[in-house]
Amino acid sequence: MAKIIDGNAMAAAIKTEIKTEIESGNLQVGLAVILVGNDPPSQIYVKYKQKDCGECGIHFYGYTLPEDTKTEELLELIDTLNADPKVNGILVQQPLPAQIDLTAANERISSLKDVDSFRADNVGRVMLGSYALPAGTPAGVMEMLKRENIEIAGKECVVVGRSNIVGKPMAMLLLHENGTVTICHSKTADLKAVCKRADILVVAMRQPNFITADYVKKGAVVIDVGINDAGEGAKGGRKLVGDVDFVSVEPAAGYITPVPGGVGPMTRAMLMRNTLTAKKLQEK
Ligand code: GUN
Repeated sequence: MAKIIDGNAMAAAIKTEIKTEIESGNLQVGLAVILVGNDPPSQIYVKYKQKDCGECGIHFYGYTLPEDTKTEELLELIDTLNADPKVNGILVQQPLPAQIDLTAANERISSLKDVDSFRADNVGRVMLGSYALPAGTPAGVMEMLKRENIEIAGKECVVVGRSNIVGKPMAMLLLHENGTVTICHSKTADLKAVCKRADILVVAMRQPNFITADYVKKGAVVIDVGINDAGEGAKGGRKLVGDVDFVSVEPAAGYITPVPGGVGPMTRAMLMRNTLTAKKLQEK
């Protein structure tokens, strides 16, 4: 029987801490979120971010640009927001329409306003261990481990997935805490054997219910980053499942995160925290 790590409760506590800090310092903190086009999941994610901002006392500045926006037009808006002192963080919601140069957009955001940590210099800072704005998902996972008092030093940590925004920075953050880190991916020869070594297993592979009990060492900490659409839910909306087969793995694991209600809310809480951190960095 695993302990289920409640990401919703933990994220709520973090948002309360942020709100308290903002109110007690009488700080004016702002986050700008740019949505290009009308991708329905993105519209929902942006609404969540707006709600999180409200809960933290952060001003939300939402911009919706048409589907046929040109890269230059998006860059112009980013320039305006870079120059606006009320805006401490800027986020361009992904995915973007195909005509937009994603790298150009990410790199145009001021380094100190890059609350997603997608810019090459901020990614590099995570590599060096001298970062202030870590990417939300890996930062959220680290916060979960910390708040559950889970020891990382000397532990076998296996990260499944090598994306620039989750797998790679995740491995670096675990390494900075002295974990012994292995990164697995689609070409890993014996994924099961490697996962089975893990004391801490972080799964970000975008494969619904892929990781079953036979991938998991008894008592391991299993962190499920996956959010996969598994069709229509019982009450109408969409049913979401992780990359970990929760029913199969939960009896074997020591700790496990659910989907939904695990890493997702923590990623959003870390975005709020990065926005507050960005404000402080800009005032230095
Ligand atoms: N789309 C899905 N997740 C994210 C995120 O964390 N940041 C941005 N910018 N877009 C996303």
